[in-house]
Order: sequence, then C-alpha cells, then structure tokens
Amino acid sequence: MLKQKLIIDTDCGSDDAMAIAMALRDPNYEILFFTAVSGNVHRDQAALNTLLTVEKAGTYEPPVYLGAADMLLRDLAYAHETHGDDGMGDLGFKPEHLKVSEGNGILKILEALRDNEPQTVDIITLGTLTNIALAMRLEPETMRRVRRIVAMGTAGLHPGNVSPVAEFNIWQDAEAAKIVTEFGIPLTYVGWDACWVNGAMLDEKEIKALHDSGPLGEFLVDCNKCLLELNRERFNGDYLDMADPAAMAAALHPQCIDICDNYYCEVDTNKGPSYGGVLVDTFRFSGKEPNAYIVSQLKPKEFKRYLFETLGAEYPE
Ligand code: BDR
Ligand code: CA
Repeated sequence: MLKQKLIIDTDCGSDDAMAIAMALRDPNYEILFFTAVSGNVHRDQAALNTLLTVEKAGTYEPPVYLGAADMLLRDLAYAHETHGDDGMGDLGFKPEHLKVSEGNGILKILEALRDNEPQTVDIITLGTLTNIALAMRLEPETMRRVRRIVAMGTAGLHPGNVSPVAEFNIWQDAEAAKIVTEFGIPLTYVGWDACWVNGAMLDEKEIKALHDSGPLGEFLVDCNKCLLELNRERFNGDYLDMADPAAMAAALHPQCIDICDNYYCEVDTNKGPSYGGVLVDTFRFSGKEPNAYIVSQLKPKEFKRYLFETLGAEYPE
C-alpha cells in the first residue's frame, strides 16, 4: 500500500504531542520529518517535545529539524499558562535518546518538495505559520508542489481562544498566516471550534479511559495537566479541547468531518482589537473567490474513536 507522505510542522505543546502520536501510529501515512517552530514554547523546546513524543509513540523515528525561532514581525507570546513552561505540563519529561537533526527546517521542506513528485506531499501545521510563510517567500514555485496544507488555525465560525475573534496559532503570527492564506494552494484550516463544539472535547470518562490505557495514554493525558486545570475554569468541568488532534483527525481521517466549506478568508493584521482574527466570508459579501476550506465541526464519535484507535486505547462507548 502506498502511504501518503506528510511533513508535520509543530510548536509542540501538550495537544500537539497527542496529534503527533496519532499520526505516527496511523499505518496509512509516512511522516518524512517534523519541523519545529516557536509558539506554545520556544522552537528549541518544541523540538525537544517532538523528540520526546516520537520516543513515547514507539513506532518509527522521523527526523526533527529546527525552523524559525522568531515570528515574522511580532514579539513572541508563549502559551505557558495553557501547556506549562515546558509545553508538557512541567512534569520533567525529556527525550531519552533522540536528538535534533542537522539542517534548517524551512530549507528541508523545500528540498523534500523538490525531491518528491509534485502533489505527493501534504503539510500539516499544528502551530504558527511562520515556517510555511517563509518557505513560500523563499521559493513560491517549489511550494506549489505541495498537495495540500492542513492547518490547525482560525477560530472557525465561533469565538476565539485568545481574544473574542482570534485563535492562538493565527494570532501568534498573523502576518505569516496572511501570506499562507493568500498564497493560492489547497488550504484547509481546522478551526478551534472543531475541537469543542458539538461535544468534541474529551470528557472526564474519556480522559480517564485514555489515561488508563497504558504508558502512551498516561503520558498524553498527564502532559495536558495545565490545560485540564485551565478548562475547569473555562468550561466548568474536566474537559480537554484537543485542537491539534482534531486537526490531525480531520487531515488523516476525513470521515470524521461534519461541517467543512470553502470561503474567502482574510487575516486581520491591523494592530487593533481584532488582530489575528480571520474574517470568514460566510455570506460571500466580498464576491471574491474562496481561498480556504474551514472545518468548523467534527462528528464527535468518529473523531474520538479514531483518536483512541490510533493511540492503541479502547474507546469507552
Ligand atoms: C492551538 O494553540 C496551541 O495552544 C495549541 O497547541 C493549538 O495548536 C489552539 O489554539
Ligand atoms: Ca500547537
């Protein structure tokens, strides 16, 4: 069976880790390598967290390359309160044997696209779009060889998680998101809403079942400790809104998508209160051609069954 090739770009925090483990353990896909970017944590820490997750997932070991440390224009604002200072719940996790590979992640993306037949490699992004925007500016024609980009980003059709309108990955580097959104290759944003509306969050019973399923499940729940605490205030209970796993599931197992449509989208880079918001032209006011698909709702059971299955855990029906 021919496996679909993937490049995964990540600011690896605790929900990225779950998404990465899912992708590594889905036999239909081959991850060529990972590229690290700053976001939840600094790029270097994101790379360490990715290596740690590769070790814990216990399958094959794609290289991890460093991408951009800084955002295009904006100063970094980490998500320490959401994922911990180290992005992994501050539990002292460290990779045991894997090391970061030599080479610039952005150049590695371009090299892989040149070396593979056009339209045979997908890029999945779980963090800010800085690496992808830089690759597009460096070699636009090479980037047109990507089959598609699936990005965890935008608030979808609902409120944001860092401001009333903005979602973290876009808001962290809205200038980069603007470049990617306007670039003109197949682009799917999986909005933050996909992981929390319609019962998509993991609830207490599901979190416990995953935790008790074995060492991998235990690691993936434990590292989300800070997010769980934050959600007790935000969602009034024990819930995990798994943004990156939702995006990964939408990318690798599209049967779990419930609502997805093609829209003209505009990233707000004005320095006002809606910076980082993405205007989704739902009623086609602009008359402009759609430039991105937005996944705004998943079928919760399909999503969760896929998540549990790939992680080797039994779903508590
Ligand atoms: C996104 O922001 C980060 O905190 C998560 O890892 C996810 O990629 C959700 O808005
Ligand atoms: Ca992320």
